[in-house]
Amino acid sequence: MNLLIAYATTDGQTRKIARFAADRLAGQGHAVELLNVEDTEGLDLSRFDGAILAGSLHAGGYQKSLARFATDQAAALARMPTLFLAVSLSAAGNDPEDWAGLHRCLADFEADTGWTPGRTEHVAGAFRFSEYDFFRAWAMRRIADQKGETVEPGTDKEYTDWAALILAVDGWVAGVTPRVKAAAVSAG
Ligand SMILES: Cc1cc2nc3c(=O)[nH]c(=O)nc-3n(C[C@H](O)[C@H](O)[C@H](O)COP(=O)(O)O)c2cc1C
Repeated sequence: MNLLIAYATTDGQTRKIARFAADRLAGQGHAVELLNVEDTEGLDLSRFDGAILAGSLHAGGYQKSLARFATDQAAALARMPTLFLAVSLSAAGNDPEDWAGLHRCLADFEADTGWTPGRTEHVAGAFRFSEYDFFRAWAMRRIADQKGETVEPGTDKEYTDWAALILAVDGWVAGVTPRVKAAAVSAG
């Protein structure tokens, strides 16, 4: 299968997740193109059998670059199997309020972009203190405190469940079928 993985990342964890999914799918024999959404100008989605989009939640919203890509490509995405890997720290826990927030953020993203993913997987991200500036580190330490998490200054803490991600990616790709080429349709 020809598969696209397009991601947006602020601190790097979504890139790691997207690359992991790409390696997994390539290892199964699929042809995978892994792209930062910033590098997708003019991309023709019709040559892909399916697409994974990935982005992360920052202050209640996914990256603007991801929203732009999804908006521009909404019609093409609607014609193919898609999976949205929605990365956040809320997904690391079981707090009902946090999960209600995740569902609200997803609904807002869908309304803003006009794209409704075929499937969405909420993926737990990471604290990346090695990437934060002073103010972000301060804000994230407060969030960690509120959640009862202990974090070491300058140290990253990863919550991503890689085994769950494998299940999500494998489950999604099992439902992807090769795109019927226009020529084959008109010939047959
Ligand atoms: C400034 C900032 C704001 C964040 N806001 C949220 C949020 O509103 N909800 C949430 O669940 N996670 C939030 N997170 C957690 C990120 O989604 C998480 O760290 C994720 O792994 C970031 O992915 P990235 O490294 O690809 O940018 C925030 C993180 C930062 C640094």
